[in-house]
Amino acid sequence: MALLKSDMAGEGAKVLPRHIAIILDGNGRWAKRRGLPRTAGHAAGAETFRRIATYCKDLGIDYLTVYAFSTENWKRPREEVEAIMGLLGKYLREAVETMERDHIRLKILGDASILPESLRGLIHETADISTHYEGFQANVCLNYGGRDEIVRAALRFAEDYRAGRVSTLTEDMFSGYMYSAGIPDPDLIIRPGGEKRLSNFLMWESAYSELVFTDVLWPDFTGADIDAAIAEYARRDRRFGGIKK
Ligand code: IPE
Ligand code: IPE
Ligand code: MG
Repeated sequence: MALLKSDMAGEGAKVLPRHIAIILDGNGRWAKRRGLPRTAGHAAGAETFRRIATYCKDLGIDYLTVYAFSTENWKRPREEVEAIMGLLGKYLREAVETMERDHIRLKILGDASILPESLRGLIHETADISTHYEGFQANVCLNYGGRDEIVRAALRFAEDYRAGRVSTLTEDMFSGYMYSAGIPDPDLIIRPGGEKRLSNFLMWESAYSELVFTDVLWPDFTGADIDAAIAEYARRDRRFGGIKK
């Protein structure tokens, strides 16, 4: 059963993460197990994202960030990359129609400059709509790499420094140069699909995130898996370098 914010009043209120991030992994293996092409796994994974985004919103999560396409995923066969871009375009077109009604703000994190023009247009449209209201925010990492994000932030800082716009750098200031500027760091990062690595996801922002790994393949992921990850998160003792209270 879903954990609702109201179930978590008082002491328990601390255990609901404000920001959940998910590495959407296992689409290809899900398809292979069914004798389907990998692209069928990506289509199923896109449906799962719709479902889980709504689930997290209803739970009272403020931010959901998903890793949909990495800077390294261009190494895949062209047909697979094209199919993924097609699915992302389809998702964004639908989002433009429905996000206002469903109160879902949508932000794309990553280097959009080399994405197909149609996708870039949709990214601007969704960003534009998102500025009109408050509430749940979904972030989709697309052509995103954690190291790439840090290098870009460093370059942008260097420009500001050279131009005399800034004279110092703090961690908070540097966060402001990231794609994730203004978004709190993820409290909980979930990786379905069985691998136990971050694969270049949120290298800067994950410094104190709690990590939960599960063998469930992303297309099979359900609200119950979110509940289980939150329950695991709630059992963790987040010390941030301090000592247990
Ligand atoms: C995740 O599923 C989607 C992307 C990385 C684009 P995969 O395609 O990596 O699925 P597996 O890991 O091969 O099963
Ligand atoms: C990570 O999954 C990237 C995304 C989910 C977008 P991969 O399938 O690309 O990661 P590796 O290759 O197993 O590390
Ligand atoms: Mg994978």
